[in-house]
Amino acid sequence: MSINAAPTDLTGKTCIVTGANGGIGQSTIVHFLAQGAQVFATDIAALYAGTADADLTYAQFDLLDDNSLREATRWVQACQPDVFFNNAAVFDMGSVLEADLKQMDRLFGVNVRAFYALLQAASKSMVATTTKGSIINMASQAGHRGEALVAHYCATKAAVISYTQSAALALAPHGIRVNAISPGVIDTPMWKTVDGLFAKFEGKELGQKKREVGESVPLGYMGSPEDIARVAVFLASQQAEYITAQTICVDGGNVLR
Ligand SMILES: NC(=O)c1ccc[n+]([C@@H]2O[C@H](COP(=O)([O-])OP(=O)(O)OC[C@H]3O[C@@H](n4cnc5c(N)ncnc54)[C@H](O)[C@@H]3O)[C@@H](O)[C@H]2O)c1
Repeated sequence: MSINAAPTDLTGKTCIVTGANGGIGQSTIVHFLAQGAQVFATDIAALYAGTADADLTYAQFDLLDDNSLREATRWVQACQPDVFFNNAAVFDMGSVLEADLKQMDRLFGVNVRAFYALLQAASKSMVATTTKGSIINMASQAGHRGEALVAHYCATKAAVISYTQSAALALAPHGIRVNAISPGVIDTPMWKTVDGLFAKFEGKELGQKKREVGESVPLGYMGSPEDIARVAVFLASQQAEYITAQTICVDGGNVLR
């Protein structure tokens, strides 16, 4: 019996990565490049020096600024992606009594509004170019369950899961797959912010929350950006050609559904 071992090779594929300077973004860029992809990456800040490569093109956009977001959507369409990794997001905390509308606007502005605008731009490009592409949205374990101190962020990630399902159903007739990755706790620069906020809101020592969440993962430790990047490669590739509308938990066993 012969086995059709569909490759994870991305040679000839154009992949876009947002949130490119973050821990998960950088690792995913490196993994896409290693699979032979042409990568177009974007973040608010200048490119992290360690990521430079001949097959990497970089652009700076502030997804919270309307003009910049409009330019970013045009850039996405000009890139004509086969793969769109919709990864940029911001985190903040506050209980329902404390978290205000300004914080809500910022979190929903990046994590939902810009997320959606870019998802739409990538979708339009794939439909216009009849590309049977792969869109990979970045959810979170926070999207599966509310948290007392993390109301807005949790709500934005629940929205990501919902948009993933709707977009997948809308784009399935075009052969475009849309999935999300739901990380648990991943050791990236975002955790410096998260840990500092938990120190403030729960009176913990700096570093304590990070240690605790790692120890409470069923597998016993925080994930690495590579854990997420490998799944992004899988979802981008032919290996995942029959998978759409799914949110894949990559969390060491944190979320049981
Ligand atoms: N690290 C974790 O434990 C974890 C867990 C679950 C989900 N996630 C999700 O994974 C994704 C990547 O997270 P990460 O841990 O690499 O975080 P990170 O903070 O290292 O990266 C996020 C990136 O988004 C960019 N960004 C933020 N605001 C922007 C704006 N206005 N315009 C353009 N870019 C902007 C940041 O500059 C940053 O480089 C996010 O969607 C995050 O919510 C992370």
